Amino acid sequence: MRHILFLEGSPRHGNTEQVTDWIAAGIGKGVKLTRIRLVEQNIHECRECFGCAESKKAAGCRQDDGMLEIYDLMVDADLTVFTSPIFCWGVSGITKVCLDRCFALLTGEDLLKGAKWAVVLTAGGDHFDGADLAVEMFSRLARFAGAKLAGRHVVANCPDGRKLKNNKAIQQAAKEFGKELGKALKD
Ligand SMILES: Cc1cc2nc3c(=O)[nH]c(=O)nc-3n(C[C@H](O)[C@H](O)[C@H](O)COP(=O)(O)O)c2cc1C
Repeated sequence: MRHILFLEGSPRHGNTEQVTDWIAAGIGKGVKLTRIRLVEQNIHECRECFGCAESKKAAGCRQDDGMLEIYDLMVDADLTVFTSPIFCWGVSGITKVCLDRCFALLTGEDLLKGAKWAVVLTAGGDHFDGADLAVEMFSRLARFAGAKLAGRHVVANCPDGRKLKNNKAIQQAAKEFGKELGKALKD
C-alpha cells in the first residue's frame, strides 16, 4: 500500500489541521496515511555537530530523540507532506526545527534522493505576507535534497475557527488537492 506521511507543524488544533483533515479526506481509500503532530514529538534543534556526515547509510544523527522515528518514516514514505501556518514570514518554529534536522538525511548517501514532497500552508495574510517565501524555501530545499516538490497548497487570507469550518470553497479546494496528491503517488 502507498504511504503518505504528514509532518504537521502547527502548534494548535487550528486552521492548518482543519485544512489537512480535508486534504486527507480527498486522498481517498487505499493509501496509508500517517499524521505526526510535530509539537507532540520530542524533537530538538540541530546542534551542527556534523555527526550525520560520518554515517553514509543512515541519518546518523547523534541526538537520540523523536527525529529518529521521523527519519525512518520519511525514508519509507512515498510522499511526505509538510504542513505549517505562516509565522513571521516563514514556517512555524517546530517546522523549521524539523527541516533543519532533516539535513541529516542529506549527508552521505542522500537518503531523500527521488523522494516526493508536498507543502500545505495556511496564512492570515495574503500570498505575499510570507506564504510566497515559504513555498520558495520548500522548493529550493527539495531541489537541494534531490526530492521532487509534487504539490503545494496555500490557503491565504485564511479565516479562523467556525468561519473556516463553514467555508465550502476552501474545503472543496483542499479535497481537490488531496485528490492531486493521490495521483502524484502514481507518477
Ligand atoms: C505568531 C504568529 C505569526 C504570524 N505571522 C504571520 C505572517 O507573517 N504572515 C501571515 O500571512 N500570517 C501570519 N500569521 C497568521 C497565521 O499564519 C494564520 O492564522 C494561520 O492560519 C494559523 O494556523 P493554525 O491555526 O494552524 O496555527 C501569524 C500568526 C501567529 C500566531
